[in-house]
This record gives sequence, structure tokens and C-alpha cells, in this order.
Amino acid sequence: MARRALITGITGQDGSYLAEYLLEQGYEVWGLARGQANPRVSRMRKLLSDVRVVRGDLLDQGSLISAVERVQPDEVYNLGAISFVPMSWEQAELTAEVTGMGVLRMLEAIRVCSGVSRGASTGSGQIRFYQASSSEMFGQVSETPQNERTAFHPRSPYGVAKAYGHFLTQNYRESYGMFAVSGILFNHESPRRGAEFVTRKVSLGVARIKLGLATELRLGNLEARRDWGFAGDYVKAMHLMLQAGTPEDYVIGTGRMKSVRELAEAAFSAAGLDWERYVVTDQTLHRPAEVDLLCADPKKARVQLGWEPNVAFDELVALMVESDLKLLSAGGDLDQDSSWP
Ligand code: NAP
Ligand code: GDD
Repeated sequence: MARRALITGITGQDGSYLAEYLLEQGYEVWGLARGQANPRVSRMRKLLSDVRVVRGDLLDQGSLISAVERVQPDEVYNLGAISFVPMSWEQAELTAEVTGMGVLRMLEAIRVCSGVSRGASTGSGQIRFYQASSSEMFGQVSETPQNERTAFHPRSPYGVAKAYGHFLTQNYRESYGMFAVSGILFNHESPRRGAEFVTRKVSLGVARIKLGLATELRLGNLEARRDWGFAGDYVKAMHLMLQAGTPEDYVIGTGRMKSVRELAEAAFSAAGLDWERYVVTDQTLHRPAEVDLLCADPKKARVQLGWEPNVAFDELVALMVESDLKLLSAGGDLDQDSSWP
């Protein structure tokens, strides 16, 4: 019988790549979708017609219990979250509820539905749980590169909420013997990345300028450095973590950092443009507290899971620019279903 996976956050970037990958592996894939008439659900259905949809919301415990009861999954991937860091200052309580408490509700749904009790051991037949933890938890980093033992110092309400979800996942593993793991993923991007995140903002900005639809690109802190990889590579690591013999947490990243300035340089250059002519810095886009740098030490994932990233930074940037040039040339509108190439 096909293994069954339930993915929260199915309408997001990672949800789409993970669903595609699991379908290729022969899984029956279910996506948890929220809202009465969520336009992102119909967009997802167009791209991933084989995914089955179950309704539910990370804010609603009963809906998660019903979803787990209905799907009877072998694996649950909790990708749903408010994931845009600046929004977490504007709606800190909502972020805590969705990104933090949502993890508790999902774990409880699994615990209740599978009848797991205290002190059980991680046996076969259990629902395996993946939590989408984040390098944003490292925040003001205490060492570079960051590994599974690096201390957390989150710098945003989002990072704090993710740290809660991370520790809770560990705690359910230790308290109930659940096969529950966290992937501490560093920034990963793609042509399906939300337009609010800096890589997609830049690739779309470059495409607009190249096509004569805009004359400048406004950015915040150009000195921030991130470890950027390709989302398609990272969802494979999520899957590998749930196939491992023992439940453990892993850092996933490339081990290389680039600044926002270097990102702009690479993206404009991919379109044959000079970034300095178009990028305008805007103080209002700076954050109340910044994460200056993030850089992964993915050695544990390489050694224990055999995971390695395949797409390098320049290739990733070029493919995003090329994709947005195609999208906008074809009259694509980001507010419509065509926003995903
Ligand atoms: P994304 O594109 O922003 O997707 C977020 C998903 O969460 C969407 O499907 C959204 O659904 C869903 N969601 C929001 N509120 C919800 C709620 N109340 N109930 C159920 N679902 C809800 O994020 P992503 O880039 O795919 O990232 C996936 C996960 O990995 C997130 O948890 C993120 O925090 C984490 N992460 C991402 C990165 C990265 O670089 N991409 C790095 C580390 C960790 P709607 O369509 O209904 O809004
Ligand atoms: N979004 C955005 N827009 N960021 C900008 C801009 C801008 O105009 N200008 C500079 N930046 C800088 C931000 O200050 C930040 O330092 C960096 O670019 C990356 O910002 P984002 O792309 O918004 O990503 P993030 O690092 O804050 O968060 C992403 O990665 C986390 C993992 O480290 C998100 O995907 C999170 O959900 C994820 O957990």
C-alpha cells in the first residue's frame, strides 16, 4: 500500500516542492488547506492535481484532529506558518498562535489520534512528524557556522515562535517517545518563493526593470548575509529525516553565505544589467532587530542522511531571474493564479 503523507502549508513554496517529491516517490499526498475560498488552494490544485485536500487550520485544534483521523497518515510534515519575519512584529500574537502554538496543536492531534501515552518508545507503525524549524532561531549568532548544538538567540517574534515549536517537538519525542524531528533549515528559495522575500523581490524587480515596467528597486539592509539554497533540494532532506532509523534534528544549508548586495549584483548581472544603477536603499525596510548573518554547518546531514545540496547560489539566482522574465513577458500577474511558473 502507498505510504500516506499529510502536509500543512501545502499552498506555500515548500509544500508544493515536497508534495511533488513525495508523489514521485509513490506516496498518497494530502494537503491541509485553510479558509473558505482560499485562492492559493486552486492555484495549488492546478500545479499538483494529484494532491488530496483536507480542510483545517493550525489555529483550530478540532480541525487538526479531524484531519489526522480522516487521512490516517504515516508521515506528517508541519510546514504551515506565518513565515515572513517582518510580519511577526506587526502581528506578534497571531504569529505565536500559528507558528508556535500551531506546532502544539498538530502534535496533540497526532498524540490523541494515535493513542500515544507517556514514556512510550519510538516503535514502528507510529505517525512520524516533521517540524519546519528555522535558522532564524540562531538569530544573533554565537558561533559561525551554526550546527545542531549552537545556542538560540532569536531576534524576531517569528524566531521566538519557531524556537517554541522546536523545543516542543523535542519534548514530545522525549516525553511520549514520538518519532518527531525538526529540520533547522536555512533560507531556501525558488521561482515559487513568495514575492515578499528578498530573493524573489529582487528577481521580480530585475525582470520588471529589464522589461521596462519599473525604473528602480528599493531594498533594506544590503549588508545582511544569508546561506541561500534551492527549495527543491531542501524538501528531500525533510523526507530523509523521517526515513532515518532514529528521530534526530538536523541543520540543512549549503555552508556558504552571500550578502543581499551580492544577491542584487548577481541577479542584475544575470539580466545583463548593472545593479548600482537601479537599487535604492530604503531605511523603512530595515527591521527592528536584524539577523546579521546565517551560515550552516550541514555536516551531520551529509554524514548521517547522505544529503547534499545540488543547486549553487549563482545558478539559483539565474534561474529565478529567468523564470520571472518569462512570467512577466507572458503577462503573468502576481496576484493571479499565474504567479507560480
Ligand atoms: P510559505 O510559502 O510562506 O508558506 C506558508 C504556508 O503556511 C502557506 O501554505 C499558508 O497557507 C500556511 N498557513 C499560514 N497560516 C496558516 C494557518 N493558520 N493554518 C494552516 N496553514 C497556514 O512558507 P515556505 O517558505 O513554504 O516555508 C515552509 C515552512 O518552513 C514554514 O513553516 C517556514 O516558517 C519554514 N521555513 C522556511 C524557510 C525558507 O527559507 N523558506 C527556512 C526555514 C524554515 P495559506 O495559503 O492559507 O496562507
Ligand atoms: N524581505 C526583504 N525585503 N528582505 C530584505 C530587503 C527587502 O526589501 N532588503 C534587505 N533585506 C534583508 C533582510 O533584512 C534579511 O536580513 C534578508 O534580506 C533576508 O530576508 P528575507 O528574504 O525576508 O528572509 P529572512 O531571512 O528574514 O527569513 C526567511 O528565512 C528564514 C530562515 O532563515 C524566511 O523564509 C523565514 O520563514 C525562514 O525561517
